[in-house]
Amino acid sequence: MDKFIVNGGNQISGKVDISGAKNAVLPLMTAALLVDGKTTINSVPDLRDTRTMIRLLKIIGAEVSFEANSMSVNASNINNLEAPYDLVKTMRASFYVLGPLLARFGEVRVSLPGGCSWGPRPVDFHLKGLEKLGAKISLESGYILAKAKHLYGNRICFDFPSVGATGNILMASVLAIGETCIENAAKEPEIVQLCEVLNDMGASISGIGTDKLIINGVDKLDSIDIDVIPDRIEAGTYLIAGALMGDITLNNCNPKHLEDFIDKLKLAGANISSTENSISINKIDSINPVDVTTEVYPGFPTDLQAQWMVFMSVANGRSSVIDTVYHDRFTHIPELNRLGADIRLNENKAEINGVKKLIGAQVMSTDIRASAALILGAIIAQGKTEISRVYHIDRGYDSIENKFKSLGVDIVRINE
Ligand code: EPU
Repeated sequence: MDKFIVNGGNQISGKVDISGAKNAVLPLMTAALLVDGKTTINSVPDLRDTRTMIRLLKIIGAEVSFEANSMSVNASNINNLEAPYDLVKTMRASFYVLGPLLARFGEVRVSLPGGCSWGPRPVDFHLKGLEKLGAKISLESGYILAKAKHLYGNRICFDFPSVGATGNILMASVLAIGETCIENAAKEPEIVQLCEVLNDMGASISGIGTDKLIINGVDKLDSIDIDVIPDRIEAGTYLIAGALMGDITLNNCNPKHLEDFIDKLKLAGANISSTENSISINKIDSINPVDVTTEVYPGFPTDLQAQWMVFMSVANGRSSVIDTVYHDRFTHIPELNRLGADIRLNENKAEINGVKKLIGAQVMSTDIRASAALILGAIIAQGKTEISRVYHIDRGYDSIENKFKSLGVDIVRINE
């Protein structure tokens, strides 16, 4: 397992190119399964999760090629309607094959994902939604078996605007007979892109970007070329690095996808300027404590709360982070405290008492965003930090050590 060794304290400066969004490309790759033909996807981030999804698509029978951030998925010869446990347990987004395979082939077997490192993360909304469209769902030896000769449009109202369930129901309903209405739908930019891509393929979806999506089923979808939107979470992670340690500019990003987050950075004292596709930030000398509460889009993203906590751990006073999306997503706190942060957890509220400095230590990654937070912690810490289990970070950040190295961070990957 690889480790990162970081010698902290270097000022950083320079430019970073933001990669395509992990949480956009994964459902787009499964949307390609809806098409009897070849879909081309550009600006694909080279991630462990993208590679896992390629493995899954190949197991299902798709032909996939991936080179220089460009991917083609040919789903003309699908011959195995099953997502196996080994892959689904390592990447929950594998569940995204459920909707498209059911819609196109009338049957699919997908392993239940099981728990994740920060809680149960159920899939009941996906299953109830598909049942509403007429699917028969059963559980066999840890696998969900979904069958439907035809899917029929219906009204589906989610209890919570789940990103994954919205994506799965969208991909099922585009080929259903009649009209589907998804209420309390997710509005994340990644879902907006999925809707736009499906429409470009020939689907009929309206209400895009609102919490009510209307889908009129069509008979078939066509091959298209897609450009993946920039990764707003990767961008947010580098913006925090800049606010902590130096003057940096992010290229190929979309500031509109980060408005709430950028407002919070400004409250903390950041000097930020942006164009349509770039953002520049300067190091903050004295960080104001700022409380954040994670919300669904356009609120503060749960995928940036761990990184925000590192930022606040060296602020001038006390602040809090409340996660309303995942109540248990706090495995980074004990690791950040090992670096000298002073963070206490009370249910889903972390209280952070700003300290003067962090000090290097051995720490362990527990999930994608927790590991990003540990790298940020290591960059500001005095001395050496050793971060183990970096495969978590490789799941979601393209070339992270090269990008940080180019900014002047002393970071080395050790293969053991
Ligand atoms: N939920 C249910 N039942 C369901 C589905 C969701 O109760 O059937 C609950 C979840 O337990 C959670 C809330 O609804 O409390 C939101 O979950 P959601 O379904 O929106 O999350 P997801 O689709 O599983 C995606 C991202 C996550 C991101 C969340 C929230 C992908 C591949 N993953 O997960 O990204 O945190 O939306 O924005 O898009 C990450 O990138 O590190 C990551 C975890």
